[in-house]
Amino acid sequence: NKKKDLQDKTIIITAGPTREPIDPVRFISNHSTGKMGYAIAEKAAERGAKVYLISGPTALKAPKGVRLISVNSAKDMQRRIMEHFDEAQIIIKSAAVADYAPAVAHDQKIKKKDENLTIELVKNPDILYELGKIKGDKILVGFAMETQNLIENAKEKVLKKNLDFIVANDLFTEGAGFATDTNIVKIIDRGGNIESVPKMSKHQLADLILDRVMYLQQLGEVN
Ligand code: PMT
Repeated sequence: NKKKDLQDKTIIITAGPTREPIDPVRFISNHSTGKMGYAIAEKAAERGAKVYLISGPTALKAPKGVRLISVNSAKDMQRRIMEHFDEAQIIIKSAAVADYAPAVAHDQKIKKKDENLTIELVKNPDILYELGKIKGDKILVGFAMETQNLIENAKEKVLKKNLDFIVANDLFTEGAGFATDTNIVKIIDRGGNIESVPKMSKHQLADLILDRVMYLQQLGEVN
């Protein structure tokens, strides 16, 4: 793939999980490895874009030509996105952001006691929802990870979060979702149109997502 169709574009891509601290030793997180988001970042850079990859903790190396910004919590991720928001024409949010964080991040390790421990969780900002409110003519792409009612839930998210389209994957489908090198997705646009994308590598899917983004960009330029 030698086309440089993203030459004059700046893209923000988020990847990986977030970590929400309980104390200096422990955190709440999820199983995202960052593979999906890093694949998109790698392909976007290959196609000539300036790429900010804003990533929670992963075991992956930054792809060539990508500006990697490492974050921990959802709030960190939101702050770092906003630093580059004005500059970007395209934002793709493949990170698995924790919806809740411990109400208190303790300064010292919580000691084991005889009784059970309850941790109060408070809602994290919904980063994508907040971006949707200020998106203007930027292209905003979300992901949806579901374990049931994939299409209905994804359709709801595309409208609620004011996205151009959403890439929906089902955790219980083999070859899709967390940690695999492949994914199987439905791409759903604002009109509710569904494109069923067969199993392919996350790198192939990355190119396909970028193709869809560029198509929308060109439509936008014509209108
Ligand atoms: O990293 P991998 O191991 O390769 O796995 C890839 C993946 C499964 C993580 C990826 O394909 C994926 O589905 N990412 C989105 C996971 C997710 O958090 O989905 P969601 O349906 O909970 O969230 C919907 C969208 O809102 C996502 O774009 C998410 O980034 C965003 N969000 C969610 C919550 C929140 N507080 N802020 C957000 O911005």
